[in-house]
Amino acid sequence: MSFLSSLTRTKSVDEVIHQNDADPEEGDGQLKKNLTTKDLIGFGIGIVIGTGIFTLTGLQAKENAGPAIVISFLIAGFVSLLAALCYAELASAVPTAGSSYTYAYATIGEIFAWIIAWDLILEFALGAAVVARGWSGYLAGVFDLPTAWFAEEGSIVNVGAIFITLVLGYVALRGIRESKWVTNGLVVIKVSVCLFVIVAGAFYVKGGNLSPFIPKAVPGDDDASQTLKAPLWQFVSGISPATYGIAGVFVAAAVVFFAYSGFEAVANLGEETKKPARDMPLGLLGTLGISTLLYVGVCLVITGMVFYKNLSEGDAVADVFEQVGLGWAGILIGVAAVAGLTSVILVDMVAMGRIGFAIARDGLLPPMFKKIHPSWGTPVLMTGLTVAAVAVLAGFIPISVLSEMVSIGTLFAFVVVSVAVLVLRRTQPEMKRPFRTPLVAVVAPLSVLSCVGLMASLAVETWLRFLVWLLLGFVVYFAYGMRHSRVGRGETAGSRR
Ligand code: ALA
Repeated sequence: MSFLSSLTRTKSVDEVIHQNDADPEEGDGQLKKNLTTKDLIGFGIGIVIGTGIFTLTGLQAKENAGPAIVISFLIAGFVSLLAALCYAELASAVPTAGSSYTYAYATIGEIFAWIIAWDLILEFALGAAVVARGWSGYLAGVFDLPTAWFAEEGSIVNVGAIFITLVLGYVALRGIRESKWVTNGLVVIKVSVCLFVIVAGAFYVKGGNLSPFIPKAVPGDDDASQTLKAPLWQFVSGISPATYGIAGVFVAAAVVFFAYSGFEAVANLGEETKKPARDMPLGLLGTLGISTLLYVGVCLVITGMVFYKNLSEGDAVADVFEQVGLGWAGILIGVAAVAGLTSVILVDMVAMGRIGFAIARDGLLPPMFKKIHPSWGTPVLMTGLTVAAVAVLAGFIPISVLSEMVSIGTLFAFVVVSVAVLVLRRTQPEMKRPFRTPLVAVVAPLSVLSCVGLMASLAVETWLRFLVWLLLGFVVYFAYGMRHSRVGRGETAGSRR
């Protein structure tokens, strides 16, 4: 096999679906099949609604979009919907652990699958770290704790974020049964607090706060376009940056895109789902629909309650109630946010374990990563390493750096998945697709374009960090994965296009 064809070798879709049967030595590698649509939506909401709405909304409304943060959320939601439609087709046809990684492996080839897997590590590990810091910020708001140890301003080390990561890491290690129980309770709290904010806050909305809806663009410092903090498209085009205005709405959309990241993790649970053909598309679209409705409602209400320039950067959703004189509601929301954010950290770490399991099962990571704990039923080494990495990141890296990295990683994964759905239609037209992406010739290319558009609104320094991460991934692949790939060694049925 030539070097190039090694990189683009693919796994047959049948092989992917029947991987467990075809892997008899992996008696310890079976995951339990017990999840339904309701479980998937619960899991999805658990991983999706988090720091994006609770923390980034206030920050981005204040700095970039004003009340038009609502539009930013709609843009990011629309981009996610396009990608979800692609995900749903592939997830229903290829129901197995590994998500976009597995789909890429069955379609566009091993190297792309590896890039996606590497990218997913970024999304989930850094995502958990962002939410851990958001959690800590709300905790600081409720108990008036010092920001240097619990929030962003003057941060030394975020002990609150490290603490919650370690506690939930233990729960994740103990397996999905306990995780599911804890997660479901917290999901109910999180949805309830969003509904409470929308309904109770609506009485305090003042039309004046929502006007102008899109604040007028304010010219920025000319030199800023040349700094690494400028959005990529401004840096490349040399256009002088401005805050607010339409451009600000798009910058905010790229950042709050973080709020949607994670919904595709539902697809990772294919192997544990009772009827993936029906439950998987419903689970994905249900998660996204519910999240978007809640986000739009919360954004409208909080920017209507308090003028956007007066929003808190740390705990905006609770703080607006304090600002209108409802201190008790602020505390209640703060406590509920602390509880609700907990589930995001947990499911992010659980998802990481499953992704590592799928990669190691294909031989692209050493076999120790696919070992399932005999009584806990979890991929113990991968989960343990995830917890350690998340604790360090959450302790020391600012939330803005982490969240932009998650956005760029997620958007990039969406680009690859959208391409994959098109490739698969062409190369495997006969494949059974219980859910078909509607108008795929329009939806998939539009998904690619809009994801790239949002990525271009992210800072140059985020792009540079992302490229370094990808390079590191290539080193690991060429040093290990390429030579140990089970498809490459002929240990599983590969298929060439
Ligand atoms: N989407 C998740 C959040 O907003 C990661 O916290």
